[in-house]
Amino acid sequence: MPKHIGIIMDGNGRWAKKRMLPRTAGHVAGSENFKTIARYCNRIGVKYLTVYAFSTENWKRPKEEVDAIMDLLRKYLKDSTNFKEENIKLRFIGKLSELPEDIRELMAKAEEDSKEATGLTVNMAVNYGGREEILHAVKSIGEDIKNGKLNPDELTEDDISERIYTALQDEPDFIIRPSGEYRLSNFLVWQSAYAEFWFSDVLWPDFSTKDLDRAIDAFNKRDRRFGGIKVEKI
Ligand code: FPP
Repeated sequence: MPKHIGIIMDGNGRWAKKRMLPRTAGHVAGSENFKTIARYCNRIGVKYLTVYAFSTENWKRPKEEVDAIMDLLRKYLKDSTNFKEENIKLRFIGKLSELPEDIRELMAKAEEDSKEATGLTVNMAVNYGGREEILHAVKSIGEDIKNGKLNPDELTEDDISERIYTALQDEPDFIIRPSGEYRLSNFLVWQSAYAEFWFSDVLWPDFSTKDLDRAIDAFNKRDRRFGGIKVEKI
């Protein structure tokens, strides 16, 4: 079983267009599917699920669409049954300081309410960009150098890993992008160095637990060498 799955929830707009619906209807269906897939990941024993809900680049979309995604997030966060009883821990990653204050407060409450959960941890990436995340880590390192806590000659990769938003978690070992695009789009740039990738033509709102099972089967057949070689039995 992958320990940490990352999902780029892509294809909501095309899903809606195919049905002659507004793009926002695609996001509603996408957010429902997120809940289904997260519950399933919890059931099958995945430890971490990171979903890309809103990127640092998504602000370029029409205001109505941005507002609709923010409203969906609000609605989801206000729903107090949010995974709590299911033992799912919620975390939010990204440059949260740029989000509307009420959403930040709801996020803090959802994190607090679910902090004791021992099942799946869901990282919801909102106003998230992988490069912004690395920059955030580098700034923190700069501060620690300035105040004498770190020596620039002794910096290691761990100094960055400890300062990214998913610090202390297993790195994503499996990244899934539905909807026929073959890009990382600034998602988990640092953490995905050794991740396996799975691409599918299915649009996110249609990406089912069966599709996930198929992807995980394929993951289990991959030969992960991490730059080494396979040691044959002598
Ligand atoms: C990409 O599809 C999707 C997004 C940019 C937004 C994803 C947001 C959600 C699934 C809702 C978030 C809320 C919760 C509660 C999880 P796209 O719009 O780029 O689709 P397209 O490529 O077909 O146009």
